[in-house]
Amino acid sequence: MSVVQNTRPTTRLGEVTVRDLSKSFALNGQRLAVLRDLQLEVRSGESLAIVGPSGCGKTTLLRVLAGLETPDQGEVLIDGLPVKGVGTERAIIFQEPRLLPWLTVLGNVAFGLEMRGKSKAQAELRARHYIRLVGLAEFEAAYPRQLSGGMAQRVGIARALTVQPEILLLDEPLGALDAMTKLTMQEELSRIWREEKVTMILVTHDLEEAIYLADRVLVLTKNGASVPRLIDINLARPRDRNESDFVAMRKRLMAEFGLH
Ligand SMILES: Nc1ncnc2c1ncn2[C@@H]1O[C@H](COP(=O)(O)OP(=O)(O)O)[C@@H](O)[C@H]1O
Ligand SMILES: [Mg+2]
Repeated sequence: MSVVQNTRPTTRLGEVTVRDLSKSFALNGQRLAVLRDLQLEVRSGESLAIVGPSGCGKTTLLRVLAGLETPDQGEVLIDGLPVKGVGTERAIIFQEPRLLPWLTVLGNVAFGLEMRGKSKAQAELRARHYIRLVGLAEFEAAYPRQLSGGMAQRVGIARALTVQPEILLLDEPLGALDAMTKLTMQEELSRIWREEKVTMILVTHDLEEAIYLADRVLVLTKNGASVPRLIDINLARPRDRNESDFVAMRKRLMAEFGLH
């Protein structure tokens, strides 16, 4: 039974607006344009996947959304307010969960709340709720070195959710996991996203993962070469990878990259 109510402020919706966003980096004395005049609206509670070839700017875009990187031009608005840096309404999850090795699972998940001034008891109460949600209740006393890759990433997800963000930013979160674990984790992410009603922006190089999890897929191209395509994934949930519409969607997305 869940004892922790969702205490997210109802005025925050987790809507993301990207306006005329450009970002370049210095490279050999020149500027490498990565994102060019990008426009994007992500709806409250939507699941958006970002795909594209390696080096096309997926991580850069996510870091700009997180407030870890400043755009050259344009802006990001969260619920209508310009992003000025990192903020508590956004949480980012990387490929490696980067857990603190000297803390237990419970300690790692509660850490963020304790840093924000919650008492240890309050922090642990809420942390336990999210540890259960990711299926690790029996491991709350374990240390990171005792966990498999999939379990560690689950801890990372619980840690991000514990601070109850409006927007979950994920950068290839399942990219380092073996194929079987990855499929299980995709199902779990889908369930968690539905239960938490959080806006999810997921970078992945796995087209099937994008179709499995996303309402829409943003297809980025190298060097911001053209206006990115946004593809609607109008498939019923929970999704079935073997269903004909799913297979057809995978073909369509592969064709975007000239693959067959
Ligand atoms: N801090 C940085 N300084 C210089 N170049 C960078 C920096 N971050 C990213 N880049 C370059 O920007 C491009 C996009 O990188 P990235 O966003 O990591 O791509 P992706 O995540 O799609 O693989 C790459 O060519 C990368 O080398
Ligand atoms: Mg990347």
